[in-house]
Amino acid sequence: MAIDILVVDDEEMIRWTLTEALTQEGYNVKSFETAAAFFKYFNEHGGDIVLLDVRLPDGNGLDILLEINRMDPDTIVMIMTAFGDVETAVKAMKRGAADYISKPYNLDEVLLMIAKTAESNILKSQLHHYRECLENQYAQILGEDPKMKQVKDYMSMAAKSDKTTVLIRGESGTGKELVARQIHFQSSRAAKPFIDVNAAAVSDTLLESELFGHEKGAFTDAQRQKKGLLELADGGTLFLDEIGDLHPSLQVKLLRVLQERKFRRVGGVQDIHVDVRIISATNGNLEENIQNGKMRKDLYYRLNVFTIHLPPLRERRGDIVLLSKSFLDEYRKEFSKNITGFREDALSLLESYDYPGNVRELKNIIERATLIETSSLICPASLPEELKKKIPSLYAPEPEENMKPWLNPGFQFKEYIESVEKNLIAGALEECEGKKNKAAELLGMTRFALRHQLKKHSLE
Ligand SMILES: Nc1ncnc2c1ncn2[C@@H]1O[C@H](COP(=O)(O)OP(=O)(O)OP(=O)(O)O)[C@@H](O)[C@H]1O
Ligand SMILES: [Mg+2]
Repeated sequence: MAIDILVVDDEEMIRWTLTEALTQEGYNVKSFETAAAFFKYFNEHGGDIVLLDVRLPDGNGLDILLEINRMDPDTIVMIMTAFGDVETAVKAMKRGAADYISKPYNLDEVLLMIAKTAESNILKSQLHHYRECLENQYAQILGEDPKMKQVKDYMSMAAKSDKTTVLIRGESGTGKELVARQIHFQSSRAAKPFIDVNAAAVSDTLLESELFGHEKGAFTDAQRQKKGLLELADGGTLFLDEIGDLHPSLQVKLLRVLQERKFRRVGGVQDIHVDVRIISATNGNLEENIQNGKMRKDLYYRLNVFTIHLPPLRERRGDIVLLSKSFLDEYRKEFSKNITGFREDALSLLESYDYPGNVRELKNIIERATLIETSSLICPASLPEELKKKIPSLYAPEPEENMKPWLNPGFQFKEYIESVEKNLIAGALEECEGKKNKAAELLGMTRFALRHQLKKHSLE
């Protein structure tokens, strides 16, 4: 028995892509431009899953959602909201939506979400193989640097012991969420839900009822009992992102979950037992949070059982080329562009940049370059200006133009000058393909002076 999915959206492009993709996955799909057309059909035929846009020409998705619930409580509704519109998403969830999709969406993610929802609610066995394919696709963690190899080793260890609490640390964009998903899907919990919660994205009270659920009447809006995400994650993994932002009162409740595997819903008196593995992540300094009283020490110890540190991209430059090529491959397909690779000088620019936003930033850079490149190779002109700022001119740039390095914490005059020296020497040498005579000439110094510099900066 195939699952019936109804897509309601006034944008033709969205109806078309979703219908194509879902049909290919083996679902029965019907799409509707307006609420009226949808209800006309739904009244007669019903449906298993409805993908519902919040803004329709003749109605509000949130109201339509209530109406669907009333007509057939077994129909699963997923709301499509604008990116970042957390409020609507939360409202939709409160009104009984099974999940929400934020636009612009990632098609694979949506397919995965639907497969999961369908599985937990409708036909478990039938969907098994869709999910497997999608998840494997998901879990590509690239990197050959020894630091990344170690990360991968740790990940498989964590996957093997499926009760161990894991803490993932690393700067923004280093792949913390990717790693968390991979651990889940490699573990024996893979067939159960992976639920991800961002502690910084919603208010504390909302987060509390999202996480722990609530009883009917627990607060004004609580018109019926609601299961929390912890319950929904039962058997699976709960990924708590930005754990450093968790409110102290929630920290106590979470601690109890970690210690005793039980909790109470908001307004509840009964303990609920769950079997959930917690993976948390942060890009912040938890130790500092403890110092200034933002984080409980006992919670910290409970979370910090098995820690995986993700190195920033600038500490594994060897992976930049590999990642760039893989992202290019992804986007040239997506944008149907005939780009075969990178020009050498573009690659060196990519390799020498520092990436404060890490892999996410690199990925965005490649996406943009793929989109705007008109030749068959990515050229420096398609790369953002930040990457080219390092190109030296005759004189060091004016500090005003350059930022004010002395305002950086820990600034040291001597070290700064030495790093400028080192960059100049290394740059000139590279330019001359290692020929010292030529480099000395370019730099306006004697061979002897250059030799001295090379030794000083261990560039030999
Ligand atoms: N090693 C990797 N191989 C392939 N893609 C990666 C890798 N690391 C990160 N990415 C990609 O980079 C992007 C950012 O990764 P992710 O969202 O996991 O980072 P994060 O550490 O959770 O960031 P933040 O702290 O900002 O939430 C994603 O698109 C992810 O797929
Ligand atoms: Mg993240």
